[in-house]
Amino acid sequence: MDKIIVEGGRRLRGTIEVNGAKNAALPIQCAALLTDTPTTLRHVPLLSDVRTMNKLLAGLGCEVSGERVLTIDPRGVASGTLEAPYELVKTMRASVTVMGPLLARYGRARISLPGGCAIGARPIDQHLRGLEALGAEITLAHGYVELKAKRLRGATFVFDLVTVGGTQNVMMAAALAKGTSRLENVAREPEVEELARILNKMGARVHGAGTSVIEIEGVDNLSGVDHAILPDRIEAGTFMVAAAISQGDVTLRHAPVDDLHAVIAKMEEAGVRFEVTPDGLRVLGPERLGPVDVTTRPHPGFPTDMQAQMMVLATMAHGQSLITETIFENRFMHVPELCRMGADISVHGNSAAIRGPTRYSGTTVMATDLRASASLIIAGLVAEGRTEVRRVYHLDRGYETIETRLQALGGQVERYHGARG
Ligand code: UD1
Repeated sequence: MDKIIVEGGRRLRGTIEVNGAKNAALPIQCAALLTDTPTTLRHVPLLSDVRTMNKLLAGLGCEVSGERVLTIDPRGVASGTLEAPYELVKTMRASVTVMGPLLARYGRARISLPGGCAIGARPIDQHLRGLEALGAEITLAHGYVELKAKRLRGATFVFDLVTVGGTQNVMMAAALAKGTSRLENVAREPEVEELARILNKMGARVHGAGTSVIEIEGVDNLSGVDHAILPDRIEAGTFMVAAAISQGDVTLRHAPVDDLHAVIAKMEEAGVRFEVTPDGLRVLGPERLGPVDVTTRPHPGFPTDMQAQMMVLATMAHGQSLITETIFENRFMHVPELCRMGADISVHGNSAAIRGPTRYSGTTVMATDLRASASLIIAGLVAEGRTEVRRVYHLDRGYETIETRLQALGGQVERYHGARG
């Protein structure tokens, strides 16, 4: 297993490009299953999650070629097994997003139940109830969910809670259903809007994405498209925090500023300065950071995927901050590792009280999930001495060669291949 070593104490300076968004790419890869012709995606981030999805699509019979420019040809699918196997779903929960497209296009799907994962139980009941509302017959057996439907029918469905993947799954299924669907209490994330855009390019009729009600007039068939993936707001946000706490001066080219309002607002509250320049978003880290109170919420609220990184910023602030996690029940696994590096954080239920500023000191830490790993690397950037981050395969799910990107900004960050985890 690889490890990453960070030598702290460098101010980050310079300009980097923001990569395509993982969470936009994954559902759009699945959307290719809805069509009869190849889809080409551009600005695809080179991430292990994207590769896992490609493997799943290839297993279903798609011909998948390319990386940064990725082509998915679904014409070989009909004769396949139409299954998302346990081996893939257990490594990446987003694998369940093939369910809606397979059911809508081929009338059946067999998906391994995801089970628990590091950041909570994460059930898929809302995906299933939504598809059932569209007419799917669902059976659960041997750890798999089997779905069948001759032709899905448009329906009204109200989600009990806001789910990004659930919204995407049901939206894709409804795109090929007979009649009109109305989905209420849907996720408003930019990646949902992006999926709606691509579905409409494919020939679908999706209205209202970005609001809490989406209406979809079903169509009989969809065609493959050529589409460039939108920039990753979480990758951008991660580099924003790294720049801010290192008193850096970093410009993020193509940063999706409009998708980052909640993060920018909280960072401004802490004293970070931002300038929107023709080159992108410039982030200027202050000499002294102030405390912030943050509660994660569905978009347009503060994203849970930025919670761990924001916690590192809070540890560097003068005073007491409070961070409350409302989306996932077990998403503070970075806390003990940050504390081992010197942070003063106490967790009570779903809130973490943070007293700063911390003088981090480098040590060996263990990455536990994707965003937790990013927080450890960021803390390493401001730590005294050397921080060794192990189990970086979590990081590679969502950040493309983070070490070379931070090196480009002057950070001393190296990857060592094959080290024992
Ligand atoms: C997506 C993102 C992930 C992000 C999350 C929340 C992708 C590939 N991943 O994950 O990075 O952290 O949104 O912004 O886009 N829930 C249920 N029943 C369901 C579905 C969800 O109870 O049927 C719960 C989950 O357990 C969780 C909450 O709803 O507590 C939000 O989950 P959801 O929005 O579905 O997250 P994902 O789509 O898996």
